[in-house]
Amino acid sequence: MKLALISDVHANLEALEAVLQALTREDVDIILHLGDLVGYNANPRECIDLILEHQIVCVAGNHDRAVLDPTLAEDFNILAYQAVIWSGQQLTEKHRFFLQQLPLNRIIQDRFLVCHGNPINPDAYISHHFQGKHVLNMLRRDFNPATVCFFGHTHRRAVWYRDVRGKVAQLSISEDPIRLDQENLYLINPGSVGQPRNRIPLASWAIFDTSEFVLQFKLVPYNIDAAQRKILAAKLPTYLAERLAEGV
Ligand SMILES: [Fe+2]
Repeated sequence: MKLALISDVHANLEALEAVLQALTREDVDIILHLGDLVGYNANPRECIDLILEHQIVCVAGNHDRAVLDPTLAEDFNILAYQAVIWSGQQLTEKHRFFLQQLPLNRIIQDRFLVCHGNPINPDAYISHHFQGKHVLNMLRRDFNPATVCFFGHTHRRAVWYRDVRGKVAQLSISEDPIRLDQENLYLINPGSVGQPRNRIPLASWAIFDTSEFVLQFKLVPYNIDAAQRKILAAKLPTYLAERLAEGV
């Protein structure tokens, strides 16, 4: 089975459309979105509609929850908070209901765990070694027989692994296919579609072949100008437009 991994679309319609267009050339069975459909960019309704149309399997991100309950955004930075309030005002009942029913995690084929921040907390980051180690231990202890966890939230591509000795480390990232070891545990982040922060201003996603255990990161250009113009027209903070061109 081939899985498409997309995450952190953040209401960037141009980026989501570019990824879906690229996906027409790939024979994937399931598209997974790892949370944060809304926030930051200017098309929350349209992105939810496209996700529904393409039957994309989703989990809840911290922004998805915060637009429904802004008290959850009290620790967000001010720009993220302003975008959460604006996004909440754009949603209809249908869109709110869709976000409300999203689970915090899902398990696919017993073996693949899907979440946003970490498997039990959409606000938690997996950025540092101690965090990777903590979540790999959680995967082994609490989610057996799952051995691979797909996550988002950092907006940066990453592959953490734990080998049979218990060693935890990261793999280096490129767009070449990466064959994984079925004996290891993995945490895999495909980067962000709608607001990449790895200084590469391209929509970032990945494909994972569950039988071959091969992961491939993908990057696709999208119409940044159009996304920026919509952010400015909506009177969202200017920096949210500027950062798209920098990939930060
Ligand atoms: Fe996010």
